[in-house]
Amino acid sequence: MPPPPRVLISEKRILRRVGALAREVDAWSRGGRVVVVGVLNGSILFLADLVRRLRSPVVLDCIAASSYGTARTSSGRVLFNRRLRLNVRGAKVLLVDDILDTGRTLAALSRFLRKLGARRVEACVLLRKNVPRAADVSARFVGFDIPDCFVYGYGLDLRERFRNLRDIACAPPFENETRMKTARRQPEKRAEDLGGFPAGARPSDGG
Ligand code: IMP
Ligand code: MG
Repeated sequence: MPPPPRVLISEKRILRRVGALAREVDAWSRGGRVVVVGVLNGSILFLADLVRRLRSPVVLDCIAASSYGTARTSSGRVLFNRRLRLNVRGAKVLLVDDILDTGRTLAALSRFLRKLGARRVEACVLLRKNVPRAADVSARFVGFDIPDCFVYGYGLDLRERFRNLRDIACAPPFENETRMKTARRQPEKRAEDLGGFPAGARPSDGG
């Protein structure tokens, strides 16, 4: 039987920290209007929990971006897969993402939002991985600092699965090592070939 997920951050700790982050964001906005831009898909649960706890007046939009694709380490190109509907000219924008890894996504999105005329752009990430950044970017609001392991749950996926886990889990060491070193170049290698997964939740094709 596959082992249960290796929980890195429990639901309880996540929600407590999200509450504190909301208070930090409120202090930053000083009661002013904030345009919250969520980065799909990974931030969706974090975004929902965060905005519900904000007291500042909020308008909400989402954008989809990815720097992963199939070969994560290769191009470093960030693709935008969805347009913004809200006008951000002159606005205070809070960019909400699940995780700060190489930093390419947030760097590209911040540049993009500034180009659209945003007055301030600050990033809020639930997780910040302890890795060297490929892009010069930092997040003003950070939930947790985590080691360089591949994480999933609470919106983050492991090959499109497990976004609905309530906790954040760390992928098994072998899967982790493989993802970090070689699997990024072998996207067709399936997760069930690589190690154990939560019962009844073995990765399959996509969604
Ligand atoms: P960056 O552009 O390298 O900072 O990548 C950020 C994006 O990569 C995040 O928004 C996630 O979607 C994805 N990502 C990075 N690390 C992980 C992870 O450990 N698990 C799941 N997704 C991740
Ligand atoms: Mg993402």
